[in-house]
Amino acid sequence: MTERIVLAYSGGLDTSVAIGWLAEQTGAEVIAVAADVGQGGEDMEVIAARALTCGATDSVILDLKDEFANDYCMPALAANALYMDRYPLVSALSRPTIVRHLVEAARQFGAGTVSHGCTGKGNDQVRFEVGIATLAPELNVLAPVRDCGMTRDKAIVFAQEKALPIETTKKSPYSIDQNVWGRSIETGLLEDIWNSPVEDMYSYTANPSAPGKPDEVTITFTAGVPVAIDGVAVTPLQAIQQLNSRAGAQGVGRLDMVEDRLIGIKSREVYEAPGAIALISAHQELENVTLERDLARFKRQVEQRWTELVYDGLWFSPLKNALDTFLSHSQEHVSGDVRLVLHAGQARVTGRRSVESLYDFSMATYDTGDVFDQSLARGFIELWGLPSKMAARRDARVAAQIS
Ligand code: ARG
Repeated sequence: MTERIVLAYSGGLDTSVAIGWLAEQTGAEVIAVAADVGQGGEDMEVIAARALTCGATDSVILDLKDEFANDYCMPALAANALYMDRYPLVSALSRPTIVRHLVEAARQFGAGTVSHGCTGKGNDQVRFEVGIATLAPELNVLAPVRDCGMTRDKAIVFAQEKALPIETTKKSPYSIDQNVWGRSIETGLLEDIWNSPVEDMYSYTANPSAPGKPDEVTITFTAGVPVAIDGVAVTPLQAIQQLNSRAGAQGVGRLDMVEDRLIGIKSREVYEAPGAIALISAHQELENVTLERDLARFKRQVEQRWTELVYDGLWFSPLKNALDTFLSHSQEHVSGDVRLVLHAGQARVTGRRSVESLYDFSMATYDTGDVFDQSLARGFIELWGLPSKMAARRDARVAAQIS
């Protein structure tokens, strides 16, 4: 039987050329797998048809939007996942989603090799390949751009020679990856880190400095998951989509940063993630109201570790799995409403309410109705400071003996 290769297919120049390139170099049949993780843009049917025109033996479309939202974006929300305190892991979340289905497709089609279009300089190759090695160690991996000398210039020549139905002249100056959780923009003029981003890079967000009326939105959470927007029930996917459009219209969620990649280099990245940033802002505030103090403090360390593991391509690792259990348990009481005002690039919390609230008005108030017994504070402070006081007393004693 002819060897088969399952290719993660985006419909763009690189993976379109990769179909014929892989077939020529290996003699294998290429099966194109196109995953819909909410990236929008071109119709998936058009993409699947293009794969066949480019020489794929078969092409498969997978609608992974709900799975991506439920099983990848929601855990990231529980973790308030922001790599380097800013980047909501957009691409890092989609890779394990796609990996799972590539492995499934490889088994279904009897393929011995899985292929992707990543270069050898980024994080995504690591995420694909560590995921594949963990879920299906028997599969080989081939990355034509990295492993078979398929440079951009050669890809364009190849596409023109074979008359592939793909735009080769109007090359986008940027490398873009997008899904429902956000959009990342790299390369081009951004490689000079002094250059400002330009307005036409953005597609999920409007200019935050453009005048416009603020938009007030109430998000209802149950156990950490958004379940309604302005009182209307939503699925996680719908919550992200609706907030992408409402927060996006207000320019919320634009980021410009220099990022530490796993492979060791620093890179300039521009992101836009309006829905993710609005949801994380609201979710963090609801946790402030509903999580007990020590749980909240410890959770912040777990969040950071979880985020780094996912960024570093270790979605399927034992530590990440164990931290998932902690995170999901921590969400038990994270239910209630958060009101946000979306405006001028900001998602600002203006109100919160919850039947699970630990905020107690009668404990907090300085007005009548105060039930907090202030006389207890003196004794508390006495004991709280005791170890420091004893140590200072010892230091003074020792210093007196020496002199
Ligand atoms: N630097 C980001 C990350 O590693 C974004 C990668 C985007 N990928 C791309 N092919 N443009 O998660």
